[in-house]
Amino acid sequence: MKPVKLGLIGCGTVGTGVARLLINNRHLIEQRTGIPLHIKFIADLDTKKDRGVAFEPGILISNAWQIIDDPEIDIVIEMIGGETLANDLIKAAIEKGKHIVTANKALLAKHGNQLFKTAACKGVDLAYEASVCGCIPIIKTLRETLVSNQINSMTGIFNGTCNYILTQITEAQISFKDALKQAQAQGYAEADPTLDVEGFDAAHKLAILTSLAYGMHINFDDIYIEGISKITPFDIKLAAEFGYCIKLLAISKNLGDRIEARVHPTMIPYGNILSNVRGTLNAININGHAVDNLFLSGHGAGMMPTASAILSDIVDLSRNLQHHAAARIPLMGCQPPDIQTMPILPITDILTRYYFRFTALDNPGVLSSIAGILGKYEISIQSVHQKGRKTDGSVPIVMMSHSAKESYVRKAFEEIDSLEVVEEPPVLIRIEDGFAQD
Ligand code: HSE
Repeated sequence: MKPVKLGLIGCGTVGTGVARLLINNRHLIEQRTGIPLHIKFIADLDTKKDRGVAFEPGILISNAWQIIDDPEIDIVIEMIGGETLANDLIKAAIEKGKHIVTANKALLAKHGNQLFKTAACKGVDLAYEASVCGCIPIIKTLRETLVSNQINSMTGIFNGTCNYILTQITEAQISFKDALKQAQAQGYAEADPTLDVEGFDAAHKLAILTSLAYGMHINFDDIYIEGISKITPFDIKLAAEFGYCIKLLAISKNLGDRIEARVHPTMIPYGNILSNVRGTLNAININGHAVDNLFLSGHGAGMMPTASAILSDIVDLSRNLQHHAAARIPLMGCQPPDIQTMPILPITDILTRYYFRFTALDNPGVLSSIAGILGKYEISIQSVHQKGRKTDGSVPIVMMSHSAKESYVRKAFEEIDSLEVVEEPPVLIRIEDGFAQD
């Protein structure tokens, strides 16, 4: 079989992992596929750094456009990230009829609709397994394994940095700030961790999966995003007293004519399978009408897990090339004319259960004033706990609600916050109980 020629763009952590697998596991891959994979060029600004890989002389180059312009290169693997140069390189490679592998979630979440359309028109493959949850084979699972299923919902832990921080606050009882410092020291969080801790990274991944699962175009800005930076050890401790842990969940639900797509800190009962996903691990529970619940978990980042997902794409595309079957699987899992546009429900319209924490003066009638306002907005309380009085005379009042509409909760909060006896802005954490119970 003629070798498939590869051009790698970006040789940072993930690029180095991909090169390592291609070079060190060449024989294993060839035994399994029968296809020789040949790296023709690797483009990176730093061509001198020792990456601990035995590169053939001359394959490291500094100009990525040399890969795009090389007629021999069959597959371009984009690993530079970002939304500008990466977008230009991918578009140019598609124009030249090259197949693409990318792990660039931000690019696909925001510009995927256009890139997939362009690639489909040119009959080229654009593979993106590594863009969502590292080595978890979620794109393949949705596009291939669950092809006959109507997907009802997906609920997952898509950001390892946040999961590490929440695990450390829960188990080591340290503050958010200290847990974040640890995550940075371990190399999990970026120096600017905003994309991780404020939920954007998880939302990028949710956008990609939501498009794929329901065969729809998605407007990234319609996804509700709330990060974990305001979660306190106190709320984590109280949640545990109610039998819940707090995770940054990405939630997508198919409501038929509308969908829910949201990322926020969420209380889930201990006993739910996702509550056992600790540290930097990622996980997803997919509910399909035929399979019921399907649970996948693994490393969502890191050199070798991410490289493994990229290799899976490279091999798929090489097999397609071998059989002259490019674009065998529709890029968004659905035939382009059947891709729909469905509205995402605004967060104010969702119905869910809540944890509320009010900080109020410990005076007669305070609890009934708060409960009265909640009742006025049709928010029914399932349980109430009043914790010990603080030295300033205020007391935390913690409530778990039955299902309520978020717009009503927000109105009730405005009124409660304006009460003289309420000392701090009320806290709200959404609850999910109804999935993947073990
Ligand atoms: N920064 C991400 C995480 C990995 O912490 O999970 C890449 O998306």
